[in-house]
Amino acid sequence: NYYAILMAGGVGSRFWPVSKKKFPKQFHDILGTGETLIQRTFNRLARLIPEENILILTNGMYNDLVKQQLPNVTDNQIVLEPVMRNTAPCILLSALKIQKQNEDAMMVVAPSDHWIEDEDAFVNDLQTAFDACQRQDDLLMTLGIQPTFPHTGYGYIQHQTNPSSKVNKVVNFKEKPDYNTAKEYLSDGNYLWNAGIFVWSAKAITGEFRKLVPEMYEIFEEGLPYYNTTQEQRFINESYEDAENISIDYAIMEKAENVCVIPASFDWNDLGSWGALHEELDHDENENVFINSKSLTENASNNIVRTLGNKLVVLKDIDNYIIVEDEEVLLIYPRGDEQGIKNV
Ligand code: GDD
Ligand code: MG
Repeated sequence: NYYAILMAGGVGSRFWPVSKKKFPKQFHDILGTGETLIQRTFNRLARLIPEENILILTNGMYNDLVKQQLPNVTDNQIVLEPVMRNTAPCILLSALKIQKQNEDAMMVVAPSDHWIEDEDAFVNDLQTAFDACQRQDDLLMTLGIQPTFPHTGYGYIQHQTNPSSKVNKVVNFKEKPDYNTAKEYLSDGNYLWNAGIFVWSAKAITGEFRKLVPEMYEIFEEGLPYYNTTQEQRFINESYEDAENISIDYAIMEKAENVCVIPASFDWNDLGSWGALHEELDHDENENVFINSKSLTENASNNIVRTLGNKLVVLKDIDNYIIVEDEEVLLIYPRGDEQGIKNV
């Protein structure tokens, strides 16, 4: 009764120009592993979950990319959103769809675009989460990452510590705090970053939606006769845009009561920006990273450089820059302002 939903509808705008609306980062092999991020995520989940129980949630415009990259996935496993509405609507819709297949389904919700190095540790933690939710089927389980700096783009999870179990009760979930609040959380010590990976029974999460976001619940409840039939996509195309544009973190996690967290035992990187990628790749002696490029440097440090093809890149007196080339764009941008790439 294990299911997974893989969220693959984001645009990855901080990774521009490599990640762009036509071709977002989850469909790229950003780290040069031989698999794209979505393929790697799918294969990681398939270690515990039957492949036919893994759903892909994405925007209609990425249907072809999903089919090319995951050729064994069938149409009933792909949910195509006609418009972007963030993560809450697509999670509710797919939880109802899964619950219709299996009243006792347990499910993991996973972003398609993260980096997890130690897959064995990931699978262990996931099993622990499933076991806990199986024992108590109204739990909403999160996986928590030890924070290292006051990042304002994450959810923060305040928890009680439980010496006898990996599962800790969550006291407070705060999505994307401002910088000063994030700093307080960090010095407090009892906060973890939300990895964006959730585990729960289909019953528990649909029940929370019914309670906390009833308007959205009503919209997707009407689809129950159509889910897993040839009418499903028609229903989605007609109704989806009526749903509120809101993430699961704001819609449910900040408000729900039965939230728990398992501190992750794996390394995690959400590859949210070029700087995050810099941490994962090999550096030269001056902390420069060159992707697809040979280099000749003099007094250059902390740069991240990616070229098309295998070019020689010559840097002199250049510190802390992102230099990225693609077919249409050459980006040269200070690393300190990298969040601004999103606006470009
Ligand atoms: N199907 C679908 N539809 N997927 C979407 C949509 C959508 O409209 N919007 C975003 N996604 C996917 C993204 O591709 C990504 O894999 C995942 O959902 C999370 O969305 P992000 O936009 O990357 O969220 P975030 O990074 O701002 O915040 C979330 O992740 C953080 C960890 O990376 C939150 O859960 C935070 O609490 C968390 O710390
Ligand atoms: Mg993200």
